[in-house]
Amino acid sequence: MRTDIVHIGAGELTYEIRNIVNVGEKLQKLGIKTYWENIGDPVAKGEEIPLWMKKLVAECAMENSSYGYSPTRGILTTREFLAAEVNRRGGVQIGPDDILFFNGLGDAISKIYGMLRRNARVVVSSPSYTTHSSAEASHAGDRPVSYRLDPRNNWFPDLEDMENRIKYNPAVAGILMINPDNPTGAVYPEEILRGVVALARKYDLFIICDEVYHRIVYNGRKTKSLAEVIGDVPAIAMRGISKEMPWPGSRCGWIEVYNGDKDPMFQKYVGSILNSKMVEVCSTTLPQMVLPAILTHPQYNAYLAERVDRYERASNIAYNTLKEVDGLIVNRTDGAFYMSVAFEPGILNHRQTLPIENNEVREHVEQLVAQPGTSPDKRFVYYLLGSTGICVVPLSSFATELQGFRTTLLERDEERFRKICGTLAEAIRRYLAS
Ligand SMILES: Cc1ncc(COP(=O)(O)O)c(C=O)c1O
Repeated sequence: MRTDIVHIGAGELTYEIRNIVNVGEKLQKLGIKTYWENIGDPVAKGEEIPLWMKKLVAECAMENSSYGYSPTRGILTTREFLAAEVNRRGGVQIGPDDILFFNGLGDAISKIYGMLRRNARVVVSSPSYTTHSSAEASHAGDRPVSYRLDPRNNWFPDLEDMENRIKYNPAVAGILMINPDNPTGAVYPEEILRGVVALARKYDLFIICDEVYHRIVYNGRKTKSLAEVIGDVPAIAMRGISKEMPWPGSRCGWIEVYNGDKDPMFQKYVGSILNSKMVEVCSTTLPQMVLPAILTHPQYNAYLAERVDRYERASNIAYNTLKEVDGLIVNRTDGAFYMSVAFEPGILNHRQTLPIENNEVREHVEQLVAQPGTSPDKRFVYYLLGSTGICVVPLSSFATELQGFRTTLLERDEERFRKICGTLAEAIRRYLAS
């Protein structure tokens, strides 16, 4: 090309959660039975969508209007419904025009960072859900600016580290929080949320809080929504139906803008996000139309509670099994449906292996791990996959130097899940001793 056509941030866009699928599929073809613990899609893991929900969606699909465009911001009655939900919590008060729909939060994330001025940075968590950290880094064409989630303290944000990142990086204009968190499964107590809001107020920043897992909290943990603690600080909360309903294929999520009128620059920025949606016309119509009917259905809460109970049981099975393994830093998951496990520093090396019976599979894994730059946890993940068929994601692919892995708690068959955790624990012991 006579002109470089590659975006300055192109190298920052990686998504190991799906990359690892290519490896898993290749090994599957070579005869390995694969247990997909890498991707956070409850439907792919066999979640049965209840009939009453399917009927509501089917009835909506019989209406002509569900086939049309919707207003750019989203359907007004749905935004009124969601604004009333926020206002009922008693914190910041919003109107329907403070809500903007997207084609899933993935779309919202790329627009939110994409519309930021190039040299304005959002400090992101580390480890971080890659869609956020990659989109932020890509927008800036530079490595993410990140604060530490502490594996020795329930994966809670290290507020001192967060303050240092803000203080010594004048380009930082905002703070990202994910609560409950992906990839760690942490649920932040109110004091932490208030601590982050206090930092934003002190340094004149805005907050982005991804709350897509907000109603998936268990083990007796309590948290607050950002709306309840934000006070007068400008902020964006992100919500959606992919995980809760769950309906990830609907591609439907929205942002709630808090204190949009408190700062003229923030107001202009939010306006530019709306404009970027406007040039695209609108987001998916049908899920917006049916959303209030599903969320207010008399069986919705019981349906969600049954799923949340299941994740709680899985979180305890995984925690109780893995905490017995030497060399790991293990926290119990309290929300969402992921568990991140870190290896003690320095415990992994480039010689450890697991036995792989199938010659072709072993050769393929050996080729993969021989690639230059393969991190020690990626090596572990490839050997685990080749040896046991369990597919997890290396922790280092979530914008962190920590070595470990992220697994999901989505397996519906409790006995099978117990077996998977047992096999995983045994494989780690063998790998570390090899
Ligand atoms: C924290 C978080 N935010 C956003 C998303 C993306 O959601 P959506 O399906 O609405 O794009 C995910 C998906 O895994 C997630 O974990």
